[in-house]
Amino acid sequence: MSVEHSAGLTTLSVNLNKVALLRNSRGGDSPSVVRAAGTVLGAGAGGITLHPRPDLRHARPDDIAPMRELCLAPVELNLEGNPFAPANDRYPGFLQLVEQYRPDQATLVPDADAQLTSDHGFDLALDAARLRPIVASLRALGIRVSLFVDMDAVDIERAAEIGVDRIEIYTGPYARAYSCGDAAAALDACAQTASAARAVGLGVNAGHDLDLHNLGALLRYCAPISEVSIGHALVGDALYQGLEATVRAYLGVIADAYGR
Ligand code: PXP
Repeated sequence: MSVEHSAGLTTLSVNLNKVALLRNSRGGDSPSVVRAAGTVLGAGAGGITLHPRPDLRHARPDDIAPMRELCLAPVELNLEGNPFAPANDRYPGFLQLVEQYRPDQATLVPDADAQLTSDHGFDLALDAARLRPIVASLRALGIRVSLFVDMDAVDIERAAEIGVDRIEIYTGPYARAYSCGDAAAALDACAQTASAARAVGLGVNAGHDLDLHNLGALLRYCAPISEVSIGHALVGDALYQGLEATVRAYLGVIADAYGR
């Protein structure tokens, strides 16, 4: 596989949940998540993200093993999930999946089962005590841990106390503000959260509702962002442009944001 991933820039981790959702709507294996992963990595994406949920509507636990095989360094596998969501007979629990498949990064997200998609970050004051031992056990396995936080999180130093390596800023509200033509306040909030995180030694990821239009401004305003994870818009764009060309277009936006 030819990989010319974006080393030194923000890594583009492509979230393939929407490909899995389409596949699951008919059963069978089409469209293939594995084939999509091969295409996005061949086009130069630096990583794959899967967010298996307990109701299995998106990526399923059995999607992870082939991704682990495809994502060889420096390409990264990022698994997202709620460490507190209970297991069921088809979903063994997020921590068990992480322990079994050893992604390069585990992103902890406080999403509930009934939620359409992740729509808020952790309450750092409320959740710190129960997150701390989980984060320690994941880091002991050599897995980088990222914590999903709101773009205006006020107490970001608590994330460092919890022991995570990175935060992922929830960019949904930024994307909505951008589409209304008034993103200045949201950009300020993201930039302040990013710099507060860096001040306490944390790396900064970002994700949710990012697209070809709003990505560049976010990167320019909040640099350096280590990783963006993008699914919904990217898979939608691929309907019109094709998956490979779409990934290249997102990589182009990232390169432009850094003036390369
Ligand atoms: N980051 C997290 C934590 C998510 O839960 C998701 C959606 O699964 C994304 C990023 C990607 O969001 P989108 O599909 O809107 O690009």
